[in-house]
Amino acid sequence: MKYSYAGLKLASPAVLAPMSGVSTLPFRLLCKELGAGLTYTEFASAIAIARSVEGKRLSNNKVFSRVKTVKEEHPVGVQLFAPNEKDLCTAIEYVERDFDLVDINFGCPSPKITGGGCGAFLLKTPEKIISLLNAAVSISNKPITCKLRMGWDTPVLHEFVKKIENTGIQGIALHARTAQQGYSGSADWEYIKKIKNLVSIPVIGNGDVSSASEVLDKIENNYCDLVMVGRGAWNHPALFAEVSGKPVPLRKEIILRYLELVQKHPVTDFSDVKAQLSGMLSGLHGVKSLRVQLMQAKDLVHVERVIHTAVM
Ligand SMILES: Cc1cc2nc3c(=O)[nH]c(=O)nc-3n(C[C@H](O)[C@H](O)[C@H](O)COP(=O)(O)O)c2cc1C
Repeated sequence: MKYSYAGLKLASPAVLAPMSGVSTLPFRLLCKELGAGLTYTEFASAIAIARSVEGKRLSNNKVFSRVKTVKEEHPVGVQLFAPNEKDLCTAIEYVERDFDLVDINFGCPSPKITGGGCGAFLLKTPEKIISLLNAAVSISNKPITCKLRMGWDTPVLHEFVKKIENTGIQGIALHARTAQQGYSGSADWEYIKKIKNLVSIPVIGNGDVSSASEVLDKIENNYCDLVMVGRGAWNHPALFAEVSGKPVPLRKEIILRYLELVQKHPVTDFSDVKAQLSGMLSGLHGVKSLRVQLMQAKDLVHVERVIHTAVM
């Protein structure tokens, strides 16, 4: 295989982004079947995992549904966020066994996450990122990677990315915006190239990619080693088949396969299924009325009926 990340051989350079409420197990499996080279779980709180492990409350806790995989999914990474080394290490020891890599989130700008001193908040204190990564590398039996933004309010990652590499992590994924930008403006792919040229470990570029040709263009023009796709894959998972040169199933076939996977691997929040489908219907003629019908659906049988009767 031509592509690799964190020592793993990958069949495709297109990676499914971790997306809370979207990258659920059935959606990840769908993207894998279509050709995604690597998938990640939705991020999970290391503190929630650590407290459950310490209190021996291992069942019946929603956080564990976020860190579940099955053998068909490999290679797959688990993503954690944490404000301190102790909880991060406890969580890693508990979850890493089933995964091929452990990724730490330093990119999430949501106040729910940054308010707890996690995610992109840590970009304000690079020394804390280094310390968390050192702790993770020293405790883990799996490759450690991380996902970052360029900085909190200005791009500063280039100033300390070499120190990040020196912790022994085996890859970096970069969403090329600052945390303060949220999703405004456009991702700065020249900055991704700059970071790639500063380190020897593989770099995954991320931000605003929504077509197979863009994925291939970023690789051919040496912006990065792999390309991570988030919202583009949510709306159009067939992108993974297009990148791999596999036959591209019809939209309806993809959606029905997704529903089969949901039946096999139920998700905790039924609303996630509806949101997922709503994305996959994007651009379709008559999408408004379909979305209304979907939002009214009370269960999977009802959802299937709506999809079966839709013209697409
Ligand atoms: C609904 C949603 C949930 C997300 N959840 C996560 C997450 O759990 N972990 C993470 O690292 N990034 C998360 N992200 C950010 C994406 O992984 C990605 O970095 C971002 O969407 C930019 O890529 P895109 O332009 O291809 O969407 C999320 C994004 C969206 C839209």
